[in-house]
Amino acid sequence: MSAAVITAAGSKKELDDGQLLDAYAWDTVPDAGSRPCFRFNFITSVDGAVSFNGRSGELGNDADRRVFALLRSTADLILVGAGTVRAEGYAGELLSVQAQSERRRRGLTAHPGIAVVSASLHLDPEFFRQAPVRPLVLTAAAAPESRRRALERVADVVVAGARTVDPGQAAAVLARRGHRRVLCEGGPQLFGSFQAAGLVDELCLTLAPVFTAGAAGRITAGAPETRLEPLRLKHVLCSGDTLLLRYCTA
Ligand SMILES: NC(=O)c1ccc[n+]([C@@H]2O[C@H](COP(=O)([O-])OP(=O)(O)OC[C@H]3O[C@@H](n4cnc5c(N)ncnc54)[C@H](OP(=O)(O)O)[C@@H]3O)[C@@H](O)[C@H]2O)c1
Repeated sequence: MSAAVITAAGSKKELDDGQLLDAYAWDTVPDAGSRPCFRFNFITSVDGAVSFNGRSGELGNDADRRVFALLRSTADLILVGAGTVRAEGYAGELLSVQAQSERRRRGLTAHPGIAVVSASLHLDPEFFRQAPVRPLVLTAAAAPESRRRALERVADVVVAGARTVDPGQAAAVLARRGHRRVLCEGGPQLFGSFQAAGLVDELCLTLAPVFTAGAAGRITAGAPETRLEPLRLKHVLCSGDTLLLRYCTA
């Protein structure tokens, strides 16, 4: 992991990786077979942009990348929308060699699983060729049959909804497969669908100390405005002018 200095808000004491892991320890680890815990992780500019030049990475810095990698290292499964895979490029290793051995030391598999949510199944074959573990694709019954069959050669493809992926059905699929701690790396449409379904347990949000102006969207998209959902602030960490916030919904 990179060596960005991260402290608790108001403190000058640098947090080591063990202390950071404690700060991001999962609140509850559901029993096997129960609905997984869904933790979302996003970065946003101070003026609310989810991306710059079409990618989130442009907003990030070493502190965000340190927490991003650490969150991955604690998850059973990384869940991501197809738009994010297309925009960010997810092919290849998900974790450093060091993080993989750390996971083994903690009794976890070297790699978390990876699941992509897509109704169209327009997915880059490179992602599947380079994936460190066989990916799971969560799709809808209406997905094109030929693409589904082609993907089944390189991934487990599971239907979890009629025209789009229903987060409740997706949660049931993930529970059956033994995933309890699910890290959702976006993007906005996936987050919106989970918000609408009331299935967001946690949001880790990096506030990047920049304005972007422009027309980039927010971290959420596609869900109707329904009610104000109160959040509980678990912590505020700092790295220079960057804030690393952790919120829970319940
Ligand atoms: N700032 C951050 O932390 C962050 C994090 C992630 C992404 N991003 C940015 O967000 C942008 C992409 O936004 P996005 O909204 O397109 O991302 P997204 O949610 O990852 O992708 C949307 C696509 O994912 C699939 N999808 C998501 N939810 C679905 C559901 N419930 N059912 C069926 N399919 C579903 C669909 O794929 P198909 O079209 O294949 O059907 C949909 O078109 C990029 O610019 C990326 O860089 C930023």
